[in-house]
Amino acid sequence: MESYPEIPASDDEAVEETLDPANWDELRSLGHRMLDDMLDYLASVRERPAWQPVPQSIKARLNEKLPAEPMDAVLVYEEFKQSILPYPTGNIHPRFWGWVMGTGTPLAMLADMLASGINAHIAGYDQAATLIERQVVAWLTELVGMPVQSSGLLVSGATMANIVGLVVARNAKAGFDVRQQGLQDAESKLVLYGSTETHSWAQKAVELMGLGNEALRRIPVNENFEIDLGALEAAHITDLANGSRPFCVIGNAGTVNTGATDNLIALADFCQRHDLWFHVDGAFGALAALSPKLQPIVAGMERADSLAFDLHKWMYLPYEIGCALVRDRQSHRDAFQLTPSYLTSTTRGIAVAALEFAELGIQLSRGFRALKAWMSLKTHGSLKYCRLIEQNVEQARYLERLIDSHSRLELLAPVPLNVVCFRFIIGGMDEASLNALNEEILVRVQESGVAVPSSTMINGKFALRVAITNHRSRRADFDMLVEAVVRTGDDIR
Ligand SMILES: Cc1ncc(COP(=O)(O)O)c(C=O)c1O
Repeated sequence: MESYPEIPASDDEAVEETLDPANWDELRSLGHRMLDDMLDYLASVRERPAWQPVPQSIKARLNEKLPAEPMDAVLVYEEFKQSILPYPTGNIHPRFWGWVMGTGTPLAMLADMLASGINAHIAGYDQAATLIERQVVAWLTELVGMPVQSSGLLVSGATMANIVGLVVARNAKAGFDVRQQGLQDAESKLVLYGSTETHSWAQKAVELMGLGNEALRRIPVNENFEIDLGALEAAHITDLANGSRPFCVIGNAGTVNTGATDNLIALADFCQRHDLWFHVDGAFGALAALSPKLQPIVAGMERADSLAFDLHKWMYLPYEIGCALVRDRQSHRDAFQLTPSYLTSTTRGIAVAALEFAELGIQLSRGFRALKAWMSLKTHGSLKYCRLIEQNVEQARYLERLIDSHSRLELLAPVPLNVVCFRFIIGGMDEASLNALNEEILVRVQESGVAVPSSTMINGKFALRVAITNHRSRRADFDMLVEAVVRTGDDIR
C-alpha cells in the first residue's frame, strides 16, 4: 500500500475551504445524539399519533429566506427536531395503511447512513458497491422466480421500474429502430393493453414515451377486478383490423385499488400466442412470490418479459428503492446502452466495467440503494420476509372478518391479498350521502391520529382503503381501526 505525505491544514481558509468539519469531535458528538434520538423515535413510534397536521406556525417557519451565512449544525438539528420530526406522513406507524407505503426499518436506516457516507456512484465501475447491486438483483431475481439469467437494476420505485420495462418492450417489439427514428414516422400506431385497474404510472409512461394516452387500451375487469380476458382478445382483434401494432400487455400482480392479481398464466399464454411483450407490474404483489402459500396467486409472473416491483413497499425498506427485471439481457441493454468517449471503459483501472448499470436504465449517476437491501436480506434472511408478508395477508383476512361480522360495515371488494376496501353503512341512506359520510369518517379518523387508511372509489362507492405493508401492525391495531370507524360514523350521523 502506498503511503502519502501528510498535507498540513490550510492556514488560509479563505483560499482553500472544505465542507468537512473544522472540529470532528463536535460533529461526532452531534452524530451520536442524532443516532440515539432517531432510535428512541423509532422505538417509541406507537406512543405517537399515526399522523398530525403541520401547524400554521411551523408552515410559516419552514418558508424562510435562503441562508447565506452559516448557522451552528446543533441549532439546525434542533430546528429539525422541533419543526420536521413531529410532522411526518406517519407511514412508520403501526396503524398507517394509506396508499401503499412502506414502514422502513431501523437497520436499513443505518445502512442508508453508511451508503451515504461512502457516497458511491454506481453507474458501474470496479468497486464493491457494484458487486453488491449485482448480488441484490440476483437475490431478488431468485426471490420472485424470474430466470437466473435475467438482467436488472435498482431504481427509485415501481413507477421508474415500470417505465424501464415499457421502454424495453416498445423498443424490442416496435418493428423498427425506435431509438434512431423515434415515433414520428411510425407506419402503424403502437398500442398496448392493461386493465382499467392498472396504476396511473402507466398513463405517465405512455405519455412520456411519446405513445400518447390513447395508445394504452384500458381493458375492463371482471367482478374480482382482474382483467377480462375476453375483452382483451376482442380489443386486440379490433386493433389488428384497424392497422395498429399491439406490442405489450401489462399484467397486474396486486392492483393498487383492491390487491387483485390478473390471470398471469393466461396473459403469458396470450402474449406468447401473439408475439407481445409481457410486462408485469408487481409493485407490491410480486413479493407474494416469497411465500409458498401465496405464490400461486402470482403464478405466471415468472414468465414475464419484464417485471417491476418495489422494495420500499412490501420489503419494508426505507424510500427510495424499486427493482426492474428484464428476461432478455440484450433487449434490456439495447434500450439504454450509450457510450460517449468520456464514459468508455478501459482495460484496467476503475473504469473496467464503467457503465454497467447506467446502460440498463435512465439514470447515469446512481446512489448505493443496494446496501440497505443487502444488509437487510443478510441480517433478517428471506424467510423472515416470507413470514411478515404472510402475516400482513393474515391481518387483511382478520380485518375482513371484523368487517363481515359488523352490521354497520360493508366490504366493497374481495380481499385476495393485503388490501381491504370497506365502508360504514346506514340502512336506507342513498349512495351520494353514504359517499359523503365515509369521506368525513376517513378524514376524522386520520385527524384523530388513531390510524391512517386512505380511500378509493369502488364501483362508484367511496371506500375506506387499508393496504397492509406494515411490519409493525398487530391484530389489535385493526380492532382499534374498526372501533374508530364505527364510533366516528355513529358520531356524525
Ligand atoms: C400497483 C402499483 N403500481 C405502481 C405503483 C407506483 O409505485 P411507486 O410509488 O414506488 O413509484 C404503485 C404505488 O402504490 C402501485 O400500488
